[in-house]
Amino acid sequence: MSSHPEGTKKLLVADLWKMKAESKKISMITAYSYPQGLIVDEAGIDIILVGDSLGMVELGYEDTVPVTMEEMVMHTKAVMRAVKRAHVVGDLPFMSYNISTEQAVTNAGIIYKEGGADSVKLEGGQEMADKAEAIHRAGIPIFGHIGLTPQTAAMLGGFKVQGKSTDAAKKAIDDALALQDAGAFALILEAIPQQLAQIITEKLSIPTIGIGGGVYCDGQVLVLHDMLGLFKRFTPKFVKVYGDMYTQQLNAVKEFIDDVHEERFPAGEHSFNMKEDAVNELKKELGD
Ligand code: KIV
Repeated sequence: MSSHPEGTKKLLVADLWKMKAESKKISMITAYSYPQGLIVDEAGIDIILVGDSLGMVELGYEDTVPVTMEEMVMHTKAVMRAVKRAHVVGDLPFMSYNISTEQAVTNAGIIYKEGGADSVKLEGGQEMADKAEAIHRAGIPIFGHIGLTPQTAAMLGGFKVQGKSTDAAKKAIDDALALQDAGAFALILEAIPQQLAQIITEKLSIPTIGIGGGVYCDGQVLVLHDMLGLFKRFTPKFVKVYGDMYTQQLNAVKEFIDDVHEERFPAGEHSFNMKEDAVNELKKELGD
């Protein structure tokens, strides 16, 4: 429990590789703001993802498709101001890398240079390997994401488990190997059977981070709002919910409203005082 024993030394890609080599599980979580960055970093998380899931859980979009580069840069900067130890990954939003390798490198450069992230992430397998390779060659650490890829969920038949048939599983393995060959330093495996995640994890030398990928992955990631019980629209099967922060925050605001209505707030300790003499003099001058 609690903060990491290694203190505030920044975690590098090499540290994450070492964790896989030493069979130490890697913890990863999303964060989108300065206070969230402070909390998850202080808790001792290894990797923070400024995910494009912010579109849904922070900005109220229906899905991640509308998220823009400007939004990603702004939120990445906010998280970077807070984080001292964790490795921070900035997500490339939909259509910021899909068109060409030039576009991919340009936008990865913006998240990395302007946003200040330690690495960038893109979604997709073999079809995105050329983009991953170009980003890697440009000197930017690149994180892959295969299985259920939310930006292109419409092409996958919706938010469904991927890689269940033999053919689909073989394709997922080829996707993972293609990304590793392209230079990806780690890979998210989202919503795939745990047996498939185990095979991929054993075949790869880079760490696999599961979200609905089962226990055999080298690490686990969850969306912060899902695990805190802050996002009520839906909760995927693979989420473990650790709190009901929505209800806690709702109740706190309700209590404040009641306190204001009932004049319980502000109390003496929340108020400022003038000296009695000064009050009397003021009243005299005002003729009260
Ligand atoms: O954007 C995000 O939060 C993600 C996670 C689902 C891994 O990509």
